[in-house]
Order: sequence, then structure tokens, then C-alpha cells
Amino acid sequence: MSETLDKLLTKVENAVSDLPTLPYVVERVLEISSDPDSSMRDLESVVASDPALSARILRAANSGLYAIPQHITSITQAAAILGFRIIRSLCLSIPILSTLGHNWGPIDPKLFRRHSIAVGVAARFISRKKRIYDTETAFTAGLLHDIGKIILSKTLPDRYKASLDMIASGVECRKAESSCMGQSHDMVGASILLRWNLPLELVTAIEQHHTPIANSLSEIIFEADTISKSFGYVNCSFESCSGVSDKYDDLREIIRRAVEDEFSIL
Ligand SMILES: [Fe+2]
Ligand SMILES: [Fe+2]
Repeated sequence: MSETLDKLLTKVENAVSDLPTLPYVVERVLEISSDPDSSMRDLESVVASDPALSARILRAANSGLYAIPQHITSITQAAAILGFRIIRSLCLSIPILSTLGHNWGPIDPKLFRRHSIAVGVAARFISRKKRIYDTETAFTAGLLHDIGKIILSKTLPDRYKASLDMIASGVECRKAESSCMGQSHDMVGASILLRWNLPLELVTAIEQHHTPIANSLSEIIFEADTISKSFGYVNCSFESCSGVSDKYDDLREIIRRAVEDEFSIL
């Protein structure tokens, strides 16, 4: 690796270690999730301590995304209807995306968020269909799978733009990133999640989402990524993907509705 790439790599590593810690609410939600003696009541009280998060969870519950016929007016009601895992995944996803701020360099935030939501929703659908993996962990992994791109784009905007030009000319995404910035987004994403002490299953899935292991969460994310791109939910305008098999046709409308609903929430 040239010295220049070495220096760029150090800049990215510094940017990751300089990231703010996750909000207290995320730490508490992770503690509660890993404690077998914890209950929904514990989770409710953490959510209730954060009014902004409470408001967004209520918006999610009423968005149509979870097909709940009645109007949800309280966190207790939302928790009872949506369940522990869905509330947990909302508690993790909402603050994590907010922590990264809004200036994402050459990344188009709207395309990026649409793509991330589409992959999260597709991952949830695939894990349910295949009956492997917890559906809400799959959703969170899908939502966060390309998070490394945000740090690369924020930290090295010119180099990131150069990598986009290479991708547009046909170079594979991770190869382009590595040759322009010394590291690819899957590795950077995994180091961000490690920095935040997120569960190891998420770290591994993000690290392997372009080199998936059979029957693992990384394979679900890989498939969800491919499907979302083939439906037009791409990260950049020139990105494309060949069609996927007909078995996922019913997923197209589910993703379209979910992207519309969740876009106003996350
Ligand atoms: Fe990716
Ligand atoms: Fe992706």
C-alpha cells in the first residue's frame, strides 16, 4: 500500500474512533436485551425517558408498516402490540442513524436512506420466509449494512467522489473504495459497530455482507441488498443490479410501502 493510502487509512480510523458514543438510551437497550431477567417494562421505561425517541416509535407504530388496525397512543400500548424485538430494533436504529448527522459528503442522503430501509425491510422478509435468524436483528443489520460508506464519504469526500467515478466506469465497489481510500465500506462499517459495542452478530454480518457465509445473517443481507438494487433502491444513480427471480415479486410492493412509511420515521 502506498504511503498516501496509509495516511488516508489512518484518517478513516481516526474518524471512527472520534465518533461520538451512542446515546445513553442505546446502551441501556443493549444491556436490557442481553439480560435474561429483563422485561418489556424495563424497555418501556428506557423509551419513556427519551421523549424524541418515544414520539418516533409512536409514529412507526402508526405508520402502517406493522399493519396495526388501531391508533396507538402510548408506548405501553405500542410495546404490547409490537413486542419486545420490534421496539428494541427501533430503539437501536433510530438513534444510530441520527448520531451520524446530516452532512454526508458526496453521498446522496435520500438515496442512501431509501436503500438502507429497503435492505432492512427485505432482510426482515427473507429471514421470516426462510425461517432463519431473528427478523428484527435482520432488519437492523440491513439498515446499517452500508454505514461504513457514510464515514468514508464524510472523512474523505474527494477520494470518495473519485471512487464513485470508478464505480460508474464499471469497477467493483469495494475495489474502487480500497484503491481510492485504502479501505472498503464493509470493513469500516464493522469497525464503527465495534466502536459502539454493538452485538457481534451485527458486526460480522456487516463485515461479510459482500462476501457472505452460507445460511448466515450476512447471506440474508447480501440477498436483501441484491433484491433492493434490482427493484431500483440503489445508493447512487448509476448503481444497478440484474433482475432477481420471480419468487421475490411480492416483496416489491412491501418494500415500496415500507420505504414510504419509514422514510418519515428514521
Ligand atoms: Fe455494501
Ligand atoms: Fe447496499
